[in-house]
Amino acid sequence: MNIVTTINEWQSLRQTLTKKVGFIPTMGYLHQGHFSLCERAQQENDITVVSIFVNPTQFNQSQDFLNYPQNIERDIALLQEKHIDYLFLPTAKAMYEDQYSICVTETELSQELEGEYRPGHFTGMLTVVLKFLNLIQADKAYFGEKDFQQYLLIKKMAQAFFLPTTIIPCKTIRMEDGLALSSRNVRLNENQRKLASFFPKLLHSQLPLNEIKNQLEQLGFKVDYLVEKWQRRLAAVWIDDIRLIDNIELRNNLV
Ligand code: PAJ
Repeated sequence: MNIVTTINEWQSLRQTLTKKVGFIPTMGYLHQGHFSLCERAQQENDITVVSIFVNPTQFNQSQDFLNYPQNIERDIALLQEKHIDYLFLPTAKAMYEDQYSICVTETELSQELEGEYRPGHFTGMLTVVLKFLNLIQADKAYFGEKDFQQYLLIKKMAQAFFLPTTIIPCKTIRMEDGLALSSRNVRLNENQRKLASFFPKLLHSQLPLNEIKNQLEQLGFKVDYLVEKWQRRLAAVWIDDIRLIDNIELRNNLV
């Protein structure tokens, strides 16, 4: 695997690549959710590029940024094992030469759900994703349905700005007990981890929404939102100071 750390190096290298490029942007601490995107990219392209960048502008709470798990040596070893061709690891200074004075703001669907509870998050996310899509110039870029609102916004941005990269959604990967894989899960202690398994269980249940919310609250979750839209049921909850999000497709997934 070729590890590229500067933008100049990547840009000159990119000019030499003539085959189909698939791209997976990540914030690292990689897990099977990320690797499922990598596998799909490897199936559909000749060259696979992964980026790892813990994007400071999309963290609305500085503590969440400071607590975000990182282990770059482990990530590099895993990506090598998976035969990824290029790992792009830019610095924050290089990504934000403009000091974040230029940004991308969506004004409709970014205002609700995650946007309501994490002000500024989607502007930071869209801005960095646009920078990456412009740099990588991939044929296809892969995003998880786990972050469904994020996927919708990226797709909308790609359409609005006539970006040449096709945005591909990928299914959510879960643990055996149903918990969606997330880098933040490592912060759960044993008891919190046990409690967390009730979140996907209740999300998949056929109970009315208000009953699901009641049960989550009785179990000790704090519920930011639990709604049905875009033919999905979406929720964000807290276990102590750890925030989990998840969503399911409504048509087939109800048990
Ligand atoms: P990160 O949380 O590292 O996720 C990188 C990609 O992996 C996202 O597209 C996310 O939806 C996907 N993903 C995470 N968990 C998944 C799971 N359990 N199943 C399937 N896909 C999963 O999302 C981000 O980083 C950032 O916002 C980013 C897009 C990189 C911009 O900074």
